[in-house]
Amino acid sequence: MDNIIIGPLGPDESLFVNPGILEAEYLPRLLPYREEQVKYIADCIKPLMAGRNGRNLIITGAPGIGKTASTKFVFRMLKEETNDVLTLYVNCWKRDSTFKIVRHLAELLELRIPERIGPDELFDLVLKHLKIYKGVVLAFDEIDKVMDYTFLYRFLEDLPFRTMLLITNAKEWTSTLDQRLLSRLLADRLEFKPYNLKETQGILMERKDCTFVANTWERSALDIVVKKAFELHDIRSGLWLLKTAGEIAERRASRFVQNKDTEGAIAKLHDFQSAKNLQGFLNE
Ligand SMILES: Nc1ncnc2c1ncn2[C@@H]1O[C@H](COP(=O)(O)OP(=O)(O)OP(=O)(O)O)[C@@H](O)[C@H]1O
Ligand SMILES: [Mg+2]
Repeated sequence: MDNIIIGPLGPDESLFVNPGILEAEYLPRLLPYREEQVKYIADCIKPLMAGRNGRNLIITGAPGIGKTASTKFVFRMLKEETNDVLTLYVNCWKRDSTFKIVRHLAELLELRIPERIGPDELFDLVLKHLKIYKGVVLAFDEIDKVMDYTFLYRFLEDLPFRTMLLITNAKEWTSTLDQRLLSRLLADRLEFKPYNLKETQGILMERKDCTFVANTWERSALDIVVKKAFELHDIRSGLWLLKTAGEIAERRASRFVQNKDTEGAIAKLHDFQSAKNLQGFLNE
């Protein structure tokens, strides 16, 4: 039988075994309940492996429901399978113009950029390097934050073997697009629906189990987090609540995360959500 330790949590002890697992950018080993969406994205990319052009895809859905995670999940699978098809991810909240995007792509490709290069020449240089690959998958996340779409036109015109994944919260985003761009994109659409209560519970329970020392969470405390994350339809907030409740419990030297800790975390949630909006709570 395990020794049960009683008394307060010591200054050198922690409730967390793997705190990194609750960070927003952590990509879980498995992505339960998103198998269908992962397959859909992978199917758009598949033609590239056979030397044909891929399909473009517009991915929509509310915040915190696995759009970015599913995209990166497919990228990870692809990287494990082949080096012939290159994957590039750009967060357009951070890089919101053609020039910033192309400069970032040049950095990702580790290109040596000559001094005083003009924007068009830089684009040509990036294209030249992308054409080395059998195919390229470009994910433009938070695409609605972009101020000009010149880069999309150029990739459509000048990069023959590619899939572009355009990811956004704004379902109506496509209605703001120029008809000429839409008809060139010929994109499929994939809408992510929020997780139901059981799915929310499954995801948060799994992440909690990997993060915390075993048997440190009271069941009702976890239920409170799950209920809140479900109400908000947002796993990201649920992960933040798990982490914050654990920290609150540690601060009072408790060996258990209890209802008062999760309730304390929920009281702070509003601050997190405002900060998330201000900073864009950006994935990289
Ligand atoms: N099925 C899942 N299993 C495990 N973790 C998940 C799952 N779905 C989402 N998550 C986690 O929830 C968090 C939010 O997911 P993600 O960043 O993909 O949201 P999003 O839909 O891209 O949101 P936004 O529109 O705000 O960018 C991430 O930390 C992600 O790992
Ligand atoms: Mg995202």
